[in-house]
Amino acid sequence: MSLTRPDLDALPAYVPGRSVPGAIKLASNEVPYGPLPGVVEAVTEAVAGVHRYPDMGVTELRGRLAERLGVDTERIATGCGSVALFEHLFRVACLPGDEVVYPWRSFEAYPIIGATTAAKSVRVPNTADHGHDLDAMAEAITERTRIVIVCNPNNPTGTAVRKAELDAFIDRVPANVIVALDEAYREFVTDPSVPDGLVEYGDRPNVVVLRTLSKAWGLAGLRIGYLIGSPEVAAAVRKVVTPFSTSLAAQAAALAALNQEPEMRRRVELVVAERARVVEAVRKVHPDVPETQANFFWLPLGEQSAAFAAQCERAGVIVRAFQGDGVRVTIGTPEENDAFLGAL
Ligand SMILES: Cc1ncc(COP(=O)(O)O)c(C=O)c1O
Repeated sequence: MSLTRPDLDALPAYVPGRSVPGAIKLASNEVPYGPLPGVVEAVTEAVAGVHRYPDMGVTELRGRLAERLGVDTERIATGCGSVALFEHLFRVACLPGDEVVYPWRSFEAYPIIGATTAAKSVRVPNTADHGHDLDAMAEAITERTRIVIVCNPNNPTGTAVRKAELDAFIDRVPANVIVALDEAYREFVTDPSVPDGLVEYGDRPNVVVLRTLSKAWGLAGLRIGYLIGSPEVAAAVRKVVTPFSTSLAAQAAALAALNQEPEMRRRVELVVAERARVVEAVRKVHPDVPETQANFFWLPLGEQSAAFAAQCERAGVIVRAFQGDGVRVTIGTPEENDAFLGAL
């Protein structure tokens, strides 16, 4: 007898990038330069008040984000990482049997969330060069589809969708289907033809943009993400969000981090410069590394993936293997990247 759902046995567990004491961690797409200035002080000050619940409306932070993004505060919802916001979005959009279309391989949380909400996952294989097959994704939309996800840039392959193709795709999506633009890595995009989802499509009621403070803003450990949608969609998400899940410390840290945009940009530029250097070096050994617009790159090593990651680990570098498919390597500091290149 089981006390939990029998179908959970078939559910893949979310695999976090491993942290091995003493090893270099290039497995979780974090930025390696520590918290932004002022964040530790803001959190330290905030924890004196942790016997009280945080502001459930996340008013100040939502206001600050709204101001930065040039949208009304009512269009913003925050959550315990953007991963939680995906779960809330699935929940507010999907009844049993409704479908969510997403590219595959992509962010590993999508199928896990799909399997435990009412949504049925419809996976559309990536193209041979590891990008989204937007035509096939548009064709996969049925009258049961409630959400279609575009992960731009895509985790774990780093590939990005350009404006012209995204324009055409979004025009093909029916107005009653949500287009969820996952822009967790937006800050690392350097190609101007990769559209900012909010700037280009934010005025469409069925477009929802999801972003995070975990990556470029350096707050992965505090768990905070946000979405910008129509007032109706954002309000629905706020209705189902786990109460108080944007914690007191997360709100304080996010406000402090958002004051440090120039420093965030400086760090992103270091990552982007290293990305070019490392990918060029890796391509001398593996010419098929796809172009990346994120803070990681993809080695399509197929069946060799787990062995490659194990070899890196023996050399003191932790990367993320997706056995049978490829290995994702996060860009770290120049010294960390040199250690990876040495292992390679
Ligand atoms: C594509 C993508 N979306 C969303 C997330 C969620 O990030 P978080 O929950 O830390 O905000 C991640 C994290 O790895 C990601 O890679």
